[in-house]
Amino acid sequence: MPTLLELAREARSCVACPLAAGRTTVVFGVGDPAAEVMFVGEAPGREEDLAGEPFVGRSGKLLDRLIAEELGLARDQCYIANVVKCRPPENRDPLPREVETCRHFLEDQVRLVAPSVVVTLGNFASRALLGTSEGVTRLRGSTYPYLGGALVPTFHPAAALRGGGVVLAQMRADFVRAKRALGTPRAEGRGSAS
Ligand code: URA
Repeated sequence: MPTLLELAREARSCVACPLAAGRTTVVFGVGDPAAEVMFVGEAPGREEDLAGEPFVGRSGKLLDRLIAEELGLARDQCYIANVVKCRPPENRDPLPREVETCRHFLEDQVRLVAPSVVVTLGNFASRALLGTSEGVTRLRGSTYPYLGGALVPTFHPAAALRGGGVVLAQMRADFVRAKRALGTPRAEGRGSAS
């Protein structure tokens, strides 16, 4: 198993899929390498591609607020990454081949950071990690096992920015669910519902 730094270096020179041609920066992931909670989004957008950091735009500001208000944590106490590390053209959804080519980076990030809980943000990340075509509206509300820890699906912050109060309230409830899963020793294993 490489270290997180070695993995980041490998990602920065990756040309394994066509997204490499259009990127400004590889957006590998940021945060505490020993974080208890990890957030996973879809793919970098324009601002993230320029900054080299996930969730720095409007969605990121809302994510930071929810992390502070519901988990009592600062952004840099968490680990934040995306399913795909390079920006898709025109912010289209990553293609299945791109997800599969990139998947080993995220799975190794989860193994190395070893968070108690992974929170997937939105349909795309929730489906990709849980291996289902079910939408996040149906998936959310439960806690799932994932790579030895817990996985809590919730909406993408962009959905709350578009959808307003109801979506935001559901996200807050999901963050509370994630908080409950924090600090549970990984070795105990987790059930499939809470
Ligand atoms: N949306 C995502 O899914 N990821 C980001 O990094 C930014 C916006």
